[in-house]
Amino acid sequence: MAMNLDELNRTARAMVQKGRGILAADESSGTIKKRFDKIGVESTEDNRRDYRELLFRAANGMKHISGVILYDETIRQKAKDGTSLVKVIEQAGAIPGIKVDKGTKPLPFSKDETITEGLDGLRERLVEYRGLGARFAKWRATYIPTHGRPSYNCINANGQALARYAALCQEENIVPIVEPEVLMDFDNDIAACEAATEWVLKETFAQLYYANVAPEGMILKPNMVISGMKAEKRAGVEEVAERTVKVLKHCVPAAVPGIAFLSGGQSDEEATAHLNAMNAAHPNLPWALTFSYGRALQAAPQKAWSGNADNVPAAQRAFAHRAAMNGLAATGEWNPESERNAA
Ligand code: 13P
Repeated sequence: MAMNLDELNRTARAMVQKGRGILAADESSGTIKKRFDKIGVESTEDNRRDYRELLFRAANGMKHISGVILYDETIRQKAKDGTSLVKVIEQAGAIPGIKVDKGTKPLPFSKDETITEGLDGLRERLVEYRGLGARFAKWRATYIPTHGRPSYNCINANGQALARYAALCQEENIVPIVEPEVLMDFDNDIAACEAATEWVLKETFAQLYYANVAPEGMILKPNMVISGMKAEKRAGVEEVAERTVKVLKHCVPAAVPGIAFLSGGQSDEEATAHLNAMNAAHPNLPWALTFSYGRALQAAPQKAWSGNADNVPAAQRAFAHRAAMNGLAATGEWNPESERNAA
């Protein structure tokens, strides 16, 4: 298929349209099992379908959602009434997308670091996914910010893979979400996260350039610049917002339509407050700043649902609430009072 940059740019802009963001519902079978274990639900194909269908049919939540990232199983699934889940998402006014990486594997001779796999056969898979309705894709690479890491080996190898993936997507008129994630599971301070994030983004955009990826036709999904979860003293909301915007200004071309953050293990309200602080203090950035949250959108509805069909309305309300709060944060109009007023 010949690349159509107008179409890619239109899709990318729709994914980051004002006040809306992306629902990351692309947990692999292993990850969704972990989430279901926590709420005492068996991870069967039907349970996974029922849970995801309840999210996609929550009209009050979906009005704040511009796109949904799906997993291979979900993009092929049908709702209970036989409608494809892709159609359910489109009917809710959102764009379907697909996770195409095959997960992280140990990077040889690079202690604890990972390389994301999945390039073999990707060209053919993208053709199939586009046929199934995907208009964007996602590939995630991860980096460790402690004790001399990330290594250049890790940053360079993952940067090349992200760039190869992004170029293959654009060739198929699928908008690549480029997701380089500096992990927040450690005890590092915010300065270590800032240094790692800046280096990772610099190298990733260099590799995207060498691979001829058009910045107008992609979305960046980065971590925020944030203290490690196990750090003794964690930086406050303003500091996270300011350091994150500073690094993004250093690294992300103005031609990129939007930046949609991952939540990465932040609490629901933290993820909302950080995004809001960035948009409130910086209303005139060259790119839209929004959310592409997994856990920070789904933890509350998962708990409310707990596998019981009677709880579907409560789960949909919980999802709509988080989606609405993050929609406000995407325009800088959220405050802690909004949580109580809307609850
Ligand atoms: P979290 O928001 O839970 O980090 O998930 C986002 C995502 O898509 C990770 O790849």
